[in-house]
Amino acid sequence: MTDSLLAMNGVTKRFGGVTALNDVHFDLLPGEIHALMGENGAGKSTLMKILSGVYTPDAGSIRILGEAVTISGPADALTKGVAIIHQELNNIPHMTVAENLALGNEPSRGGVLNRGELRRQAREKLARIGADIPVDMPVGRLSVGMQQMVEIARAVAEDAKILILDEPTAALSRGETERLLDLVEEMRDSGMGLIYISHRMEEVWRLANRITVFRDGAWVSTTTREEATPAQIVNRMVGRNIGNLYVNEDRIIGEPVLTAAGITDGRGVGPVDLTIRSGEVLGLVGLIGAGRTEVARMLFGADPMDSGEVTLAGKDVRIRSPRDAIAAGIGLVPESRKEQALFLDMSIRDNTVMSSLPEYSVAGVMKLRAIATAVRKQTEGLKVRNSSLGQSVASLSGGNQQKVVLARWLMMAPRVLILDEPTRGVDIGAKQEIYRLINELAKSGVGILLISSDLPEALGISDRIIVARNGRFVKEFSGTSASEHMVMMWATGVARGDVTADTESQVEKEQQA
Ligand SMILES: Nc1ncnc2c1ncn2[C@@H]1O[C@H](COP(=O)(O)OP(=O)(O)OP(=O)(O)O)[C@@H](O)[C@H]1O
Ligand SMILES: [Mg+2]
Repeated sequence: MTDSLLAMNGVTKRFGGVTALNDVHFDLLPGEIHALMGENGAGKSTLMKILSGVYTPDAGSIRILGEAVTISGPADALTKGVAIIHQELNNIPHMTVAENLALGNEPSRGGVLNRGELRRQAREKLARIGADIPVDMPVGRLSVGMQQMVEIARAVAEDAKILILDEPTAALSRGETERLLDLVEEMRDSGMGLIYISHRMEEVWRLANRITVFRDGAWVSTTTREEATPAQIVNRMVGRNIGNLYVNEDRIIGEPVLTAAGITDGRGVGPVDLTIRSGEVLGLVGLIGAGRTEVARMLFGADPMDSGEVTLAGKDVRIRSPRDAIAAGIGLVPESRKEQALFLDMSIRDNTVMSSLPEYSVAGVMKLRAIATAVRKQTEGLKVRNSSLGQSVASLSGGNQQKVVLARWLMMAPRVLILDEPTRGVDIGAKQEIYRLINELAKSGVGILLISSDLPEALGISDRIIVARNGRFVKEFSGTSASEHMVMMWATGVARGDVTADTESQVEKEQQA
């Protein structure tokens, strides 16, 4: 057993009435990537927070290199060789890259901070992981991918033996994801042990030496990747066969509910035209930075429109604020749930009912019973895992927070619903629930604009696909005629103008070569 870098046994953790972990075990070898998988709320982040000193377990033991340890806090974890890149990043945003990298260890001369040395050390630490990031930049101004690189550089500089990555790619662009995966493999090859948490099966299959599955706070299985198939792993996570993941059935596509003509934001996005029909799911795809979120925010009145016209069900409308949009029946589930959508200290109930309050109050008095019933209906429909509707949203797992945002908009019964990356960080079982819901909404006549970076998802559930690039819409496909490959060609600008079947086979030949 002494070859094992880490062995956690009999770990149990309760939060009030919720048992987040029940007698689980997990181990790690040097030079190994061990993936930890499970549905939202399965207890993955909780176990990693125990290992990194954020939480104290109620029971269980931790051994590092064969020696029993108690981890008293994050700093203590680091001295014992454990570093974590949290699901929600932990940098101090106004401090510079160099300051973040030095944290608690600033070089000084005669009690005065030595800035030159601080910056030199920061460059050296970044160079060790091959990252090229300006060291004087405030961390808050970097992309999420770069912020992660800073955290990884810090972990490597501290000589971490165990590195935990909790959903590291959920908010990364394709390019950033590739770089991160390469780096993770390099760190493994250098002898570190890595614990990798992700809902993305392709990543797990590329990286993992072993895979452990948790379900409802309990250990289910640990296998080598070779011993398992993706379908088996999914089955163990959700406890059933998932069958067909994407749902697109029985929709009747009707009249346009929303038409936008020549809309621009005056800052490089647009002019673009867009028609969303009742009963239709319109997929809007493209690379990060293509202008998809900007279009969504303009339609919702969250950002000003510089020019262009919007019609709703045939009538001209002027949407100057989200309040106007909500009144007109347009809903938006934004991309960044923490910053733009959720009030973390408030309860599940209040977060869900927030945008529908006028409907649930009479002369300023809230109809509490009706609220409770309606909220329960939505949260149960989405299978939000919670102890009570009064529970604060902050204490929900990442994926369950996303479901609360969705529940809020479902309560509103919108005419047009814009979903910006609605399944990011959501487990596969819940994804299927969300696809079912989207299909139900479309069937009831709602027009849906789906922004997604998950191409199989966008292609799987949309009736039509629009590809955005550099602030313009460059191509439209019918749902059945789009392939992931062709969409990528347009999103990256490799394909322009009219593409024929010939070009496509040509492109495929080039790809194979
Ligand atoms: N601080 C807390 N207070 C109360 N309950 C908590 C707290 N942290 C986690 N929980 C609960 O513990 C359970 C496990 O949560 P955890 O965050 O470990 O899930 P997860 O497997 O990481 O899920 P996800 O894939 O959604 O990130 C959930 O039911 C969650 O609501
Ligand atoms: Mg988590």
